[in-house]
Amino acid sequence: MTPMSQQPPIEQGAAGAPRALAIETRALTKRFGERTAINGVDLRVPAGSAFGFLGPNGAGKTTMIRMLLGLTQADSGTMALLGRPLPAQRAAALAQVGAIVEEPRFHPQLSGEENLRIIAAARGAQVRARIGGALERVGLAARGDEKVKRYSLGMRQRLGVARCLLADPKLLILDEPTNGLDPGGIQEFRQMIRAMVEEEGRTVFLSSHLLDEVEKICDAAAIVDRGRVVAQGPIAELAAGASRQELIIGVDDQALALRALQASALVADVRSEEGALRVALSGDPSCAAALNAELVRAGVGVMRLEPVRQSLEQRFLEVVSGLRAPEQGGAHEVRAAEGLQRCEDGGAGR
Ligand SMILES: Nc1ncnc2c1ncn2[C@@H]1O[C@H](COP(=O)(O)OP(=O)(O)OP(=O)(O)O)[C@@H](O)[C@H]1O
Ligand SMILES: [Mg+2]
Repeated sequence: MTPMSQQPPIEQGAAGAPRALAIETRALTKRFGERTAINGVDLRVPAGSAFGFLGPNGAGKTTMIRMLLGLTQADSGTMALLGRPLPAQRAAALAQVGAIVEEPRFHPQLSGEENLRIIAAARGAQVRARIGGALERVGLAARGDEKVKRYSLGMRQRLGVARCLLADPKLLILDEPTNGLDPGGIQEFRQMIRAMVEEEGRTVFLSSHLLDEVEKICDAAAIVDRGRVVAQGPIAELAAGASRQELIIGVDDQALALRALQASALVADVRSEEGALRVALSGDPSCAAALNAELVRAGVGVMRLEPVRQSLEQRFLEVVSGLRAPEQGGAHEVRAAEGLQRCEDGGAGR
């Protein structure tokens, strides 16, 4: 693997200010025999955000996280955590990372606090001093002295996060942390993540197969499908992604408009739909104005021109449609591939 630059990579923040990336991968690829679990992934996770890695079962979420943590080796591509290239500076990078990959395990006969003390004992006074704050942060301060075997699943998950916090990490990497939690548990988890991001300035990277949860917890997300990241960016941009590419145009003369649109280089596809024309743009959304001018020049009266709005849910379903189909071949595979192509062309959030 080629080493990445030692400088922390930067990305434009909301106010145009440069923003460091907590995780950056380029063309990252991992194969298991014939199967490509992660396929050329370029991931950019802005520091100081909650970022969702969203995809259905088998999409490659756990594999991605295991690669970031050095638990499995990449076949090709580059990665960096907190500006440090991997694997060259893995130890230094992971010193600032807390992670939960599988359901966290604890000594069931000991209390939550005792479990944390065992871990802190090996790491010195500074870490020991964080136990109280960590339990407080995850909402277990009042129940830290209870045996872990009496904890609910949600409490065990939160104790897992408290264990991560002992290292005072800049970045938390959590693989499906809300799996099995009820809506109340997810709500508590959300508040905890938001506080860690907004009050403590940490970055949280979490994987999930639940769109709703990612929408509620995260600022930004990447949608992963069969090992490929098909869209990434702020949640609002992801939801709006498709609306940048399609327009509904109402005109006074459909036949004339259809001819003009079919001849236009700005148009990838056009079809009649409920008394209007549905147009897929070949370029970015800014070409809508140019297209309007073209229609007017062709003598078409344009009565309305509006982007096609899509919820993130529609978008996600579109992206992952057909994923329940068999792994190899079939009509579903083709449909999914077409959906992905559209998203990639749209370059949502890129
Ligand atoms: N050790 C392995 N050996 C062979 N194939 C593997 C291995 N680990 C994962 N895979 C395959 O890689 C693909 C991605 O798996 P991965 O566990 O990363 O998906 P996931 O998105 O975490 O799924 P889930 O939501 O079910 O946890 C799957 O097709 C899986 O079968
Ligand atoms: Mg997984």
